Amino acid sequence: LRQAIAAAVAGEAIDGLEVTVNDRVLALTARPLASGGAVLAFFDLTPVRKLETVRSDFVANVSHELKTPLTVVGGFAETLADEALDPETRRQFASAILANTRRMQRIVDDLLDLSRIESGGWTPNPVAVHLQGVAEEALGSARPRAETKGISLRVDVEPPGLAVHADPTALRQVLANLVDNAVRHTSSGEVVVQGRPERGGVSVTVRDTGAGIRPEHLERIFERFYRVDTARSREEGGTGLGLAIVKHLVEAHGGRARASSEVDQGTAIEVWFPGGAQHAEH
Ligand SMILES: Nc1ncnc2c1ncn2[C@@H]1O[C@H](COP(=O)(O)OP(=O)(O)O)[C@@H](O)[C@H]1O
Ligand SMILES: [Mg+2]
Repeated sequence: LRQAIAAAVAGEAIDGLEVTVNDRVLALTARPLASGGAVLAFFDLTPVRKLETVRSDFVANVSHELKTPLTVVGGFAETLADEALDPETRRQFASAILANTRRMQRIVDDLLDLSRIESGGWTPNPVAVHLQGVAEEALGSARPRAETKGISLRVDVEPPGLAVHADPTALRQVLANLVDNAVRHTSSGEVVVQGRPERGGVSVTVRDTGAGIRPEHLERIFERFYRVDTARSREEGGTGLGLAIVKHLVEAHGGRARASSEVDQGTAIEVWFPGGAQHAEH
């Protein structure tokens, strides 16, 4: 930078020279002045560069996520083509192919969801949604798994008629994701869906008494493909995109999503939607 400034002051014209100053990438353009000295213009390229990194990381992640199941499918299909296989092995290979195909399907579905929301191709259609009802629905689909694990499920909405101003489908998707995560990471205790009017909107919190998330992971769990335990998440059918979808859905409503957690105590994921709060007619 010093060299470039010296050259500019000495009368040299500079066009968009990239210089890095304390982690910032700047483009420098300079023109000498007839009266001596020079005019220097800096354009901060840092946000653009950051976006480029995010994009290429994302492409690398997607490729990696799809590559693993694709390799499995390819391998098993090749072996299946061997007609000498006994029917039982054949059946096993076919079911492995099916499982990995489903996995790719889930990833692609989640990616499409995410890009639809992000590109603005989808906008929420908010109405007054009776929170108690959708919360019970979300817990209902998780009940069989929770019962096997001995976890109790509870809705705690106060006042009982509390309404969220949200797109009903989006709110269901948000709750389904949060409850699924909570039940998955809890081995005893309970999962609670809590609803309260707050700051001119409604705050909905899914709280569990599970394993918790360490602080260094906590700030990253809303990122696409970020998991604390990647192998375990994959095994359990997770795509690592659930919370990214949650965040985008909530923010499309002008709301906010945030997480708090204590290792071995549990996790609370709160989503806040503006508006609503009036009592819904059932
Ligand atoms: N309630 C929770 N308790 C503990 N860890 C959680 C909880 N919810 C999310 N996580 C962590 O955040 C990661 C990202 O969540 P998510 O985006 O839903 O992806 P996944 O497909 O793995 O569920 C999970 O892999 C998990 O490590
Ligand atoms: Mg999830």
